[in-house]
Amino acid sequence: MPDIESNSIYNELLNKVNYYSGNDIKNISLKYLYQKFNLTNSDLILNKKLEWNSKVKRSFYDDLDKINNGVPIQYITNSQFFYDENFYVDNNVLIPRPETEELVSHIIKRERDNKKKNILDIGTGSGCIAITLYKHLNAHVFGIDLSKGAIKIANTNNRLVDNKVRFISESIEEYTPETKFDVIVSSPPYIYSEDKNKVESNVLNYEPHEALFVSKDPLYFYKKILKFSRRYLNQNGNIYFEINDKYESELELLFSELECKFIKDIYGKKRFLFVSIT
Ligand SMILES: C[S@@+](CC[C@H](N)C(=O)[O-])C[C@H]1O[C@@H](n2cnc3c(N)ncnc32)[C@H](O)[C@@H]1O
Repeated sequence: MPDIESNSIYNELLNKVNYYSGNDIKNISLKYLYQKFNLTNSDLILNKKLEWNSKVKRSFYDDLDKINNGVPIQYITNSQFFYDENFYVDNNVLIPRPETEELVSHIIKRERDNKKKNILDIGTGSGCIAITLYKHLNAHVFGIDLSKGAIKIANTNNRLVDNKVRFISESIEEYTPETKFDVIVSSPPYIYSEDKNKVESNVLNYEPHEALFVSKDPLYFYKKILKFSRRYLNQNGNIYFEINDKYESELELLFSELECKFIKDIYGKKRFLFVSIT
């Protein structure tokens, strides 16, 4: 069986990746090698050998073409690590972001000591929020998404928790649940479509637009979720949002009658909004 030294694949990437520049080439190459071949930095230092048959070689060069066309690594390797699990992703779903991991860790800290609860994740995408909350809170968790493709991926990821999360193909506009919730969480589309030109080209070209953009009214989903929560959130329930810090003052106004708190992300941006309905 032919094999290859891992340093030669790494060098091939360093020489041939041209979509990125500077340090990004190194970072992207290392990420690719880890996600595709499970190669760690120590494996590279030890120059570990890899099996290099014609199939592996063809797939590597196909991937290199995709990298050079700007396809995100996560869609090439179909994986993204989120919180403490590897999630399957493809272009039906938004690639889970580190700020959303932060949101989840705030929720886990705040809800950990509360009694058994029903949790709803609106716009669940890959299911990363819903599945992580199920794992860490003793709760019934539901996730809805308008996109059938996203629900299929969320159900694929549901195997991480023995299919214990209930994913439903439903929009926030149409969803009429049979139960009420104690916690509602959402990282809804929050880039105003007028700002499309400010979005990086590989995000714009490859990630699903219905996951990213909101047209007409940048607060559309927050208004819909507020209306939904008035009916379906239990008394003393909590809503946790990821937000676009650009709309902080408008959101403050929208939720002014309720107890609400903005929380900064690690970059110091007001990125999360927690609302309590008493
Ligand atoms: C920003 S993504 C968040 C995905 C995932 N929760 C995450 O954090 O990675 C927003 C999600 O909302 C879904 N969505 C868009 N419009 C919706 C609607 N009207 N009702 C329900 N889900 C919607 C999109 O399909 C997308 O999966």
